[in-house]
Amino acid sequence: MELNQIRTSFLDFFKGLNHRIVPSSSLISHNDPSLLFTNAGMVQFKNYFTGTEVPTFTRAATSQKCIRAGGKHNDLENIGYTARHHTFFEMLGNFSFLGDYFKEFAIEAAWKYLTEVLSIDRNRLYITVYHEDDEAYNIWQKLTGFSSSKIIRIATNDNFWAMGDVGPCGPCSEILFDHGDKYQGGLPGTPDEGGDRYIEIWNLVFMQYEQLSYGKRVALPKPAVDTGMGIERITAVMQGVNDNYDMDLFLKLRRASSELSKNEGQIASHKVIADHLRSSCFLIADGVVPSNEGRGYVLRRIMRRAMRHIHMLGGKDLMLHKLVPILVTEMSEAYPELKRAESVIKSVLESEEERFGETLDRGLKILASASEHLKAGDQLSGEVAFNLYDTYGFPLDLTKDILRGRNISVNEISFEEAMEDQKKRAKAAWAGSGEQAEEKIWHQIYHDHGATQFLGYETHESKAKVLAIIVGNTKVEEVEQGRAIVVTDKTPFYAESGGQVGDIGLASKNTVLDVKKYSQGIFGHHIEVVSKIRVEEEIFLSVDNNNRSKIRANHSATHLLNKVLRDIFGEHITQKGSIVNAEKLRFDFSHNKQLSSEELALVEEKVNQMIVENKPAIVDLSTPKEAIEKGAMALFGEKYGDEVRVVSLGSSVELCGGTHVSRTGDIGYFKIVSEESVAAGIRRIEAMTGMAAVVFSNTKQQVLKSLATSLKCAEVEVINKVYSLQAEIKSLGKDSSHYKGEYLASDVIIKSADGYNFIYKIFSHIDNNSLKAVLDIIKKKNPHSLICLVNELNDQATIIISVLGNAIEKLKANDIAKFFTEKAGGRGGGNVNLAQLGGCDPHKIKEALKALEETSHVK
Ligand code: ALA
Repeated sequence: MELNQIRTSFLDFFKGLNHRIVPSSSLISHNDPSLLFTNAGMVQFKNYFTGTEVPTFTRAATSQKCIRAGGKHNDLENIGYTARHHTFFEMLGNFSFLGDYFKEFAIEAAWKYLTEVLSIDRNRLYITVYHEDDEAYNIWQKLTGFSSSKIIRIATNDNFWAMGDVGPCGPCSEILFDHGDKYQGGLPGTPDEGGDRYIEIWNLVFMQYEQLSYGKRVALPKPAVDTGMGIERITAVMQGVNDNYDMDLFLKLRRASSELSKNEGQIASHKVIADHLRSSCFLIADGVVPSNEGRGYVLRRIMRRAMRHIHMLGGKDLMLHKLVPILVTEMSEAYPELKRAESVIKSVLESEEERFGETLDRGLKILASASEHLKAGDQLSGEVAFNLYDTYGFPLDLTKDILRGRNISVNEISFEEAMEDQKKRAKAAWAGSGEQAEEKIWHQIYHDHGATQFLGYETHESKAKVLAIIVGNTKVEEVEQGRAIVVTDKTPFYAESGGQVGDIGLASKNTVLDVKKYSQGIFGHHIEVVSKIRVEEEIFLSVDNNNRSKIRANHSATHLLNKVLRDIFGEHITQKGSIVNAEKLRFDFSHNKQLSSEELALVEEKVNQMIVENKPAIVDLSTPKEAIEKGAMALFGEKYGDEVRVVSLGSSVELCGGTHVSRTGDIGYFKIVSEESVAAGIRRIEAMTGMAAVVFSNTKQQVLKSLATSLKCAEVEVINKVYSLQAEIKSLGKDSSHYKGEYLASDVIIKSADGYNFIYKIFSHIDNNSLKAVLDIIKKKNPHSLICLVNELNDQATIIISVLGNAIEKLKANDIAKFFTEKAGGRGGGNVNLAQLGGCDPHKIKEALKALEETSHVK
């Protein structure tokens, strides 16, 4: 059975047992921002176990994408060296919620699937149970008839599974497969446990308790079941191999990398490449792009480790991105997001390969020479490892991996110290820039008065008390004119953040040009002062509401755009930046294919549809966790406070502190102005709303109208008219170069020589096409000839030499070309019939023509 068939058979089996087949959730867990990546099948159902949410079904089965390459579960360093570690893997699982089925059903179902559907020999299966779990023991015994030597009681946490330090947990029962005595290793609980012989294939967790934070464990009112079977392990069993990397999917990937690298050896490297290709592609498809922090850095480390192994194979070409199509072919039926994101994946991989390729070689040389004198058991200095990281982009684990084969470690303490030192130096350099003085002022203001109270969600006008005035880098008591930053106790002005620009307006008689947020929530109004402002006095703050309402419309439209893009193109679309001001909105997102004009039209249509639906904007306050659990879109890596605003506009739900319209209809109209690429895998859409969008569209309409008028056709006919005009111009052009050729060919010099005509002419500044047309015309009229056409261009000349008919018996065009180069310089050549030279001396070429005329015995 192939891997893809096993996945289907598992899901079909549980479907037959009334399970809801739920698609895999994203690798970026949306209901647990603290989790770096989804690392088990139960993650998407976490809230059903804890009771925070109530599911609409009580049985489910999934095949879940998982990554264990960062955070608590990190298998990265083992890949390539072991038979069963993966950074990316699929977990097959069945789940029971709200007290539906429990131990008996779960055990019977698992046994039936393994022994009847997959027909695995029951004698090769072994069971473990938690030592206190008599219930599970008895069920297994009754079902299998196994003795206690095959149903092993385990007292350790290996058979007690917990989601985390607190939360649902319970005893678990594992099913093991015996790969046979040609492999080393013993059963769990025996002295030689571990090894490659007895391999756990399925873990059945009986969620029976809830671990409470004060160390107490209570029974769950409704017990649940969570099971997990790594598809790679069960596939290896079904294909009769012990090493997961020997099963069909991996063999295909390994074969492709052997062929591309033209190196069949170094199996560990091919395994690394196959594994890392899978995790990189799936991560990119879920919206992760390589960066220097968080999830993006994990991706970068995985990709760079694969690239170093490609380098070790001796392949000179960039390779990782070329393996993408084969993975897509193999896995996109189960995971269509791979197909949707294929082009993004390829381009992200390629640009990272190019980027790292530039420094990899040099970094490796430096590492080789710095570690030359080290022997097994030694340590490489942390400074060298840091330099490799800082200058050559070598993640620490890559350096460790390279040295691992020689049993050399890295001094990680001095690596961390070097990293800290660099941070300090950077901070010191920054402190010297004068910004530190300013920073102190802001800190002092916060200390004295606390954060500014923002009133701008409810009102655009308010009285406020002046708390501080800053001119240059100094706090002053009053300002009479010029630029100043003014801080007040409260303000209706929005300060630039989350992509939305600061408001403009008036502070009594003075103009507020911009508002920025300073440390710890202090709003600084940047003011052009014309009428004195004093600390302690009251001023009247009034936001330019017309400007603000345009910003509101643009900001709300950005949310709708984000939603529509995800609806159309898929989950890999994530926001990579935005700017919202009164004129327009800009939205950067991960997607690398250019949007076609039909796609852009569809996006516009769908956003306008949401506008027309005129749904109210609903703003809720919530904790970030709660909001994300409810499906609100949040930015990866963004730090949110304890309380966040959740803005719902129809089906769009986002965490956002910006200002928004009251109803989607207030946006009026949405029009895309441009769509372009800004970086590998990132596209940018700029758009307008409201009257600005109307004016923009009208201008385009006007252009179309005047085009139609001057082309004398209806607007819908413009395109066809332009096509037919283009065709006409082309054919006229052909005619005209023919007539020009005729004209130019009319006064060539024709001398008759020995059985052929010697024809030549010196032209000045004519284009190549005309020269060729002249040649064709002369050739037609003179089938036995030597033709030399010279074209003078500034201080250089070109020459075409053609030999035809009887002349061929006496002359060769390339010999004549040689003759001209000897006399007049230039470069070029040709064959016996036709030759061409450029860069000849115009004076000397005339002399050469004369000389040729003389030697050709012309009459
Ligand atoms: N959640 C269980 C595991 O990951 C099934 O092993």
